Amino acid sequence: MKYLDYVEKNLPSLEGKRYLVTGANSGLGFSACKTFLLKGASVIMACRNLERAQIAKQKLLEIVPHGNIDIVQFDQADKESIDSLPKQIEKYEHIDAVVLNAGIFHPDKNLFTKQGYSLTVGTNFVGLYFTVEALKKMIKDGKIKRLVLVTSCVTHFGRSRHYEKYFKKWHRSAFKQYAVSKRMIYEYGLYLSTALFGQTEVTLCHPGLASTNIVGGQSTSFSKRFQLAGKRFMHRFGNSSDKSSLCLVLASVKSPANLGYFYPKHFFHIRGIPKEKRLHLNEKKYARLLKSLSHL
Ligand SMILES: NC(=O)c1ccc[n+]([C@@H]2O[C@H](COP(=O)([O-])OP(=O)(O)OC[C@H]3O[C@@H](n4cnc5c(N)ncnc54)[C@H](OP(=O)(O)O)[C@@H]3O)[C@@H](O)[C@H]2O)c1
Repeated sequence: MKYLDYVEKNLPSLEGKRYLVTGANSGLGFSACKTFLLKGASVIMACRNLERAQIAKQKLLEIVPHGNIDIVQFDQADKESIDSLPKQIEKYEHIDAVVLNAGIFHPDKNLFTKQGYSLTVGTNFVGLYFTVEALKKMIKDGKIKRLVLVTSCVTHFGRSRHYEKYFKKWHRSAFKQYAVSKRMIYEYGLYLSTALFGQTEVTLCHPGLASTNIVGGQSTSFSKRFQLAGKRFMHRFGNSSDKSSLCLVLASVKSPANLGYFYPKHFFHIRGIPKEKRLHLNEKKYARLLKSLSHL
């Protein structure tokens, strides 16, 4: 089924709803904002670079001219910026879902966040963890109805006995760093669904393989030639960004959905329209992650 057909036939009206999306100026975050707007919702784009965010906002307004779009500054690789998020969004009475989408794949080795965490794990997981911590007061006050965590189909390769060794040092390949960061998000999502039970819903999703800027982007270590080849590969074998972002959108709007997991239906779950399953809780699954959090 084509993206627009799916949006028209399978998604409810989202009039009166509001969604905050991190990393909203590109790829899946941008596409998810587009879908929310097409269905009548308001969006808050949380982006690290305000110039890129403005350009993305203009593109969205060309598609949905009366779209209600706000921008807030948010750098998931900088705890100070993360801690400024609640202040920037306290004026909103409610946010129906915070989509924790921002992420990077394959930066240069030995790059670190402002607080000294290795860049991939520091951005993708540690930054996400700090973001949830920063939003806890709003969650407790009932202002944030749902958290959506974006993992990946490579979480299987990211299991570790000692997640903490990835926080401040680079271990093994850049791919391993990425897989570990996404595995940690997955396990953290399971944990949050119990820790925040009764306060907010928690859903997870993975977009399969989506044709986005993930192999390019601001901090990639890939050569121009490899970026081009990667983009062609994703275009040929994966979903469009719009289609994959439906997993993020369904994870944000489907109800009731605590512990719902949304991912593409076809071809080893890397392409197609979203499929849903319910995850089963097992404390053993996140026990190692919880231990590692004391090292942050
Ligand atoms: N594409 C795939 O096949 C795929 C598969 C599995 C999972 N995912 C996940 O999907 C999410 C979105 O990726 P994408 O494919 O849409 O890639 P993308 O096009 O590169 O978009 C990533 C977004 O995250 C933002 N971002 C990166 N670092 C950030 C930071 N420190 N603070 C705030 N925002 C930051 C980027 O902002 P800038 O433009 O400023 O860099 C961009 O808006 C990621 O979490 C990724 O791991 C993607």
